[in-house]
Amino acid sequence: MQISFVESSSAGDGAWIVGALEGRTLLPAAMGADKTSGGTLARALKISRFTGKAGQMLEVLAPAGLKASRLLLVGLGKAESLDEKGLETLGAQIAGRLYTSGETAAKIEIDLPKGSKVKKAELAAHLAFGAKLKSYAFDKYRTRNLDEYEKKLKTVRIVTPDPAAAKKAHAGLAAVAEGIFLARDLVNEPPNVLYPAEFARRARAQLSKLGVKVEILGEAEMKKRGFGALLGVGQGSARESQLVVMQWNGGKKNAAPVALVGKGVCFDSGGLSIKVGAGMQGMKGDMAGAACVTGTLLALATRKAKVNAVGVIGLVENMPDGGAFRPDDVLTSLSGQTIEVLNTDAEGRLVLADALTYTQRRFKPRLLIDLATLTGAIVQTLGYEHAGIFSNNDQLVQRVQAAGRYTGERVWQLPLDPFYDKMIRSKIADMKNIGGGNSGAITAAQFLLRFIEKGTVWAHLDIAGVAWQDGEQKPTIPSWGTGWGVRLLNRLMKEHYE
Ligand code: BES
Ligand code: MN
Ligand code: ZN
Repeated sequence: MQISFVESSSAGDGAWIVGALEGRTLLPAAMGADKTSGGTLARALKISRFTGKAGQMLEVLAPAGLKASRLLLVGLGKAESLDEKGLETLGAQIAGRLYTSGETAAKIEIDLPKGSKVKKAELAAHLAFGAKLKSYAFDKYRTRNLDEYEKKLKTVRIVTPDPAAAKKAHAGLAAVAEGIFLARDLVNEPPNVLYPAEFARRARAQLSKLGVKVEILGEAEMKKRGFGALLGVGQGSARESQLVVMQWNGGKKNAAPVALVGKGVCFDSGGLSIKVGAGMQGMKGDMAGAACVTGTLLALATRKAKVNAVGVIGLVENMPDGGAFRPDDVLTSLSGQTIEVLNTDAEGRLVLADALTYTQRRFKPRLLIDLATLTGAIVQTLGYEHAGIFSNNDQLVQRVQAAGRYTGERVWQLPLDPFYDKMIRSKIADMKNIGGGNSGAITAAQFLLRFIEKGTVWAHLDIAGVAWQDGEQKPTIPSWGTGWGVRLLNRLMKEHYE
């Protein structure tokens, strides 16, 4: 999709999109369109239920007196409740509607309503961002009926009084869209294609050309260093485990970086504690944390963010075979702490444990956020609308929550407490890898906390409920890989760490 910003409202052949506020109040461009079409919009309004509520649409095909193929009136809701997130939703709804219509070109002319908090350039930029997010498709494995799936809307012009300002506001968002698309692609790729080494290759291919330093550690290297927990998970797989370290140094020289750590289980069969058939479906997406970290680094580097950021992702495949790790095995983690494995399906925390230790020891980060599709329990607890956040620092929680409210990627805090820590005591080792009772999302977080060193400001996001979705429940989010978290982390960096 080609998006441009234009000042003039010169007529075009494609769709013309104009706006109205709640209460059937046509904005200036809509009034103009009504006038040139001899009152078409006013007549259409009279015979429809359109009131201008956010998301409502009224479409007039082949409007008399206009060059446009169709006139699309969209509702903005109340001027004072219009915000960036709402504009993105609106942009996505417009694009979605035009995809359904099979339209190829569009001109969006939505005036900034009086009383709105957003600026003109932001309005245009966030409309564009929403439309762009809607253009995502993962069709590479379709070979038939391609026409049916094709998104025909190719060019979108957004009318705005200061195109240069809009373009500037949009540049950062376009970078974020690229990061989201990369994260979605990685999640959507099937596990026979995207195994650890292939993920690592793609991360390097996408990021190094942007000036991100990418290092890849293989099994031999990790064995030498003592990544006993991560390697334990991968040892039943025919695919080699990998650790990818990505460094974007856009900030002050020698300033401690923000560290992002991601769970990258390219496929989670459960291992010897094998999952049942239905529970295994979708486990190609168990690397969504790693995908989010990679996408975020891409976004930061593309927009040349003034921040030092490091992404560390542990990539493994959890498979059962003769060489696989077993329930009852004891693993020695990179931190030196020993772990009694009682369920090989609680593997994500093992991968994260070593990645967390490595990241803290090497980078001494100013803060550390890990993202992981860690537990089914978080899905039972929070469903699909919030990720769970666990942290040792309330200020960080508040910042992440605020960023999530802004982008629409919401997080909800759950507790850490010595009581839950007791649940992972082992009879023979320093800890066991499951709590063995209720509160599974919390005991998983307690497990991670044992690998957080003194003084590290840390938050863990359990994204098992939000990393992928089945239907298209939100206009800006497609079916399957959502790219959850890239927007949030980008916003967090922008607000507090650049
Ligand atoms: N990858 C899963 C968690 C998961 C479940 C993500 C459903 C997305 C949807 C994780 O590795 C896992 O299997 N966790 C177990 C832990 C249990 C064995 C203690 C779980 O949640 O059942
Ligand atoms: Mn598992
Ligand atoms: Zn898993």
